Amino acid sequence: MSAVPFSHNTTASNQGARSAEGATASTAPVAAAVAHAVDSGAAHGSAGVAGMQPDFDLARVRADFPILSEVRVHGRPLVYLDNAASSQMPQAVIERIVRYQRSGHANIHRGVHYLSDQATNAFEAARSTVRAFLNACEDREIIFTSGTTEAINLVASSWGRSALQPGDEIILSELEHHANIVPWQMVCDEKGARIRVIPVTDSGELDLEAYRRLFNARTRLVGVAHVSNALGTVNPVQEMISIAHAYGVPVLVDGAQAVPHETVDVQALDCDFYAFSGHKLYGPTGIGVLYGRAALLEQMPPYKGGGDMILSVSFEKTTYNHIPHKFEAGTPAIMPAIALAAAIDYVNGIGLPRMGAWEQHLLAHATARLAAIEGVRIIGTAPHKAAVLSFNIGNVHPHDVGSLLNDEGIAVRTGHHCAQPVMKRFGVPATVRASFAFYNTLAEVDLLADAIGRIKTLFE
Ligand SMILES: Cc1ncc(COP(=O)(O)O)c(C=O)c1O
Repeated sequence: MSAVPFSHNTTASNQGARSAEGATASTAPVAAAVAHAVDSGAAHGSAGVAGMQPDFDLARVRADFPILSEVRVHGRPLVYLDNAASSQMPQAVIERIVRYQRSGHANIHRGVHYLSDQATNAFEAARSTVRAFLNACEDREIIFTSGTTEAINLVASSWGRSALQPGDEIILSELEHHANIVPWQMVCDEKGARIRVIPVTDSGELDLEAYRRLFNARTRLVGVAHVSNALGTVNPVQEMISIAHAYGVPVLVDGAQAVPHETVDVQALDCDFYAFSGHKLYGPTGIGVLYGRAALLEQMPPYKGGGDMILSVSFEKTTYNHIPHKFEAGTPAIMPAIALAAAIDYVNGIGLPRMGAWEQHLLAHATARLAAIEGVRIIGTAPHKAAVLSFNIGNVHPHDVGSLLNDEGIAVRTGHHCAQPVMKRFGVPATVRASFAFYNTLAEVDLLADAIGRIKTLFE
């Protein structure tokens, strides 16, 4: 991803009265209102915004996501800026789910009948789609999990329990999501190992010099987010991996916030593990992926026991299945895996570079607009960021900001974003976080900025 220079000031008005009405179902006028909002984004073409157009048909893309036009919040069109928490699902994925449930569902891997065969093929084809998406070498390096959290727990539990010894060290960064902290604390407590932390600079970047100094003969693993969910920082994971490998240390990359925004190539990165979640990539909840280098996965003991992960079982001895099945005990999330593949197909149809480029425009515009509001503090100002904007308005509690924005139909996340250490680093208990997807518009960014301006005035 390349950073786009910050610029562009526009004004948009959003003076409509508030309504107490909650989210309701679709109406044509709402679609028209959204279309108007999209148009008005283009119409606010002064100061460079006119030059900002996505390299795809934004109106058509928005029409792919029914929720964007069908939901009204307090009488207003939904402005969905909580994509880092969970993104919305396009019609193509919804239809794939319906098709699978209507005519393709059966349990997989162990049936000889037609439907089981069909479902098995679709499930394994989904694995191949994910393999190609990450450019992994082999399908067997792709393990389906329930999400990023489970993928990291799998590595911490299986690799950690077998590889860690008392006195060993794991390097994590100060900006990790709790999902890439707590599983390591659990296994380190159990094994007498300890966690060392890469500090974050004032702009929200990892201090690479400090990182280099953390390595020693006891270092066993590095775990690092590709993109920070709280700050948006894109970490230089390729460089970090090559530093770790120079010490013979494997690296787990938490890619939950990266895969929706940029092309990830696990071979080019040369990472040892890579984890992500389907629901942040326009797919369903309940499905995620752990990529693991085959040689490592083969050495690792199973994570959970049960059906499908065995070759034979007796009370005397059980032999385990080959990877990836060794790590997929029990009936997996069949439909969500198939739907994830449909989401990847959808994303590939538009192209992550195009999507990412538009998101960079949205981020640049949002950053410029918010930075121009006195009293707004942006937390996370690294030059290389994904489409996440964390901020606070003076001493106003982020939850108050979030609920006032909600009154205007604008969905953002407020809180510590499951990243309490980095909140502490910046001396705040919480932030307001707007996170953009490729289906967001400049007009939506303006609605956010205008609302923030009004909220700021309200609390003066
Ligand atoms: C960077 C990062 N890692 C891990 C997670 C956990 O993902 P999930 O809850 O889908 O397992 C998230 C979710 O927000 C995240 O942003």
